[in-house]
Amino acid sequence: MPPHGEEPVPMAKSRVQFICQNCGTVHTRWAGKCDACGEWNTLIEEGTSGGIGSGPSGMRNARKGRAVTLTTLSGEIEEAPRIVSGIGELDRATGGGFVRGSALLVGGDPGIGKSTLLTQAAAALALRGHRVVYVSGEEAVAQIRLRAQRLNAAETPVELAAETNVEDILATIADGRRPDLVILDSIQTLWTDMADSAPGTVTQVRASAQAMIRYAKSTGAAVVLVGHVTKEGQIAGPRVVEHMVDGVLYFEGEGGHHYRILRTVKNRFGPTDEIGVFEMSDKGLREVANPSELFLGERSAKAPGAAVFAGMEGTRPVLVEIQALVAPSPLGTPRRAVVGWDSARLSMVLAVLEAHCGVRFATHDVYLNVAGGYRISEPAADLAVAAALVSSLTGLALPADCVYFGEISLSGAIRPVAHAQQRLKEAEKLGFGQAVMPASSEDKGGGQRSAFQPDTLADLVARIAGSKGRSTED
Ligand code: TYD
Ligand code: MG
Repeated sequence: MPPHGEEPVPMAKSRVQFICQNCGTVHTRWAGKCDACGEWNTLIEEGTSGGIGSGPSGMRNARKGRAVTLTTLSGEIEEAPRIVSGIGELDRATGGGFVRGSALLVGGDPGIGKSTLLTQAAAALALRGHRVVYVSGEEAVAQIRLRAQRLNAAETPVELAAETNVEDILATIADGRRPDLVILDSIQTLWTDMADSAPGTVTQVRASAQAMIRYAKSTGAAVVLVGHVTKEGQIAGPRVVEHMVDGVLYFEGEGGHHYRILRTVKNRFGPTDEIGVFEMSDKGLREVANPSELFLGERSAKAPGAAVFAGMEGTRPVLVEIQALVAPSPLGTPRRAVVGWDSARLSMVLAVLEAHCGVRFATHDVYLNVAGGYRISEPAADLAVAAALVSSLTGLALPADCVYFGEISLSGAIRPVAHAQQRLKEAEKLGFGQAVMPASSEDKGGGQRSAFQPDTLADLVARIAGSKGRSTED
């Protein structure tokens, strides 16, 4: 009998596996629903023989480990680590420019303007003397040239290729001076010889991204991967890439609106929650340096149901109008519809208004809209939402030069929020002389401004209701 340690190791068998195309979870058996993310019909059979998809069991006997040299945290760092494009809103979203040796994922709906943005960025960087390679797997060279002409970028020294095979791309860019920036549009079209699934599947996307990230790390070039998002708001396939890359930017916008927001979701080299704001024109994307003016543009001051929220996007204050419509409902179960905010949060604000302020919405439909198709995620918008709701219900317009911010707790108390000073400063800059804000927010700021600081939501409701007499007087 052979000694225990020398038992023959069973050979790794090539077996099939099913990979969820939404979240990347590997299943051994097919199922209608992925139990990891709960999506239906997302499991697709992919082979495991490709090496990359096969996981540790396939590599167990590959080779003995090689010792690497351990080093210290302090030490030399090569050249300026960032490549600045000069497009201010883009540099803001990336945290000060593309980082050399890093990989960035730019996600967004098809047609939102990712290729446009990156073509403009490529042109700007090439003009500054950087070597920029733009690889498109979606469009033919002629199409890209046509776009570049519209963008006034045709005469810049950007190097262009229409190619989808990762090995070919790597061989191409290895030629000549190391590129400063490589743009791959899009990750869903890339495929590598290392994996044998179809392009666009999780295995291919992951293997191709891995190869490009390895290229970035080993050469010091910055790599930008473009990824399309599915309807559900997740990057199909590339969602599994999110944790591999150093930064993730989402390019967003609402169908009917011409402005676009570049939102930082992940950044290993800078702050997240930053946004860059652009406007889409016939000549491409134009920077919007002062977003508040954009989101406040179409205000009609005298109408009830509108409140201006002083919000924050990362380090930048943004004023945006919140519009509410409360109308008697013909239905047994009244409607609640929200655009641009969280509907659960709206239910909470409605419940607090009912329970603690004696305001009844049970027989009314409630519609809430954030102007300009903008999306708010901050709880600080509670107070502005409540003010807009009460204003619409009572038919009493709120003062035109007043901003609102503050979080509402379930007890009806108004809780302080961060960055009160910056919010007030932005409001003042845009001509808003009044503010309704939490009592314990640092202080009133400038001092000359009139600030109402209610302790509870009921105080605010009483003030709005009490404005009736005042507004009829003048
Ligand atoms: P594109 O960058 O191709 O989107 P993506 O790469 O995210 O799929 O942009 C497509 C849309 O942008 C298309 O509907 C046309 C519009 N567009 C303009 O409005 N102005 C322009 O100058 C350009 C180039 C595109
Ligand atoms: Mg595109």
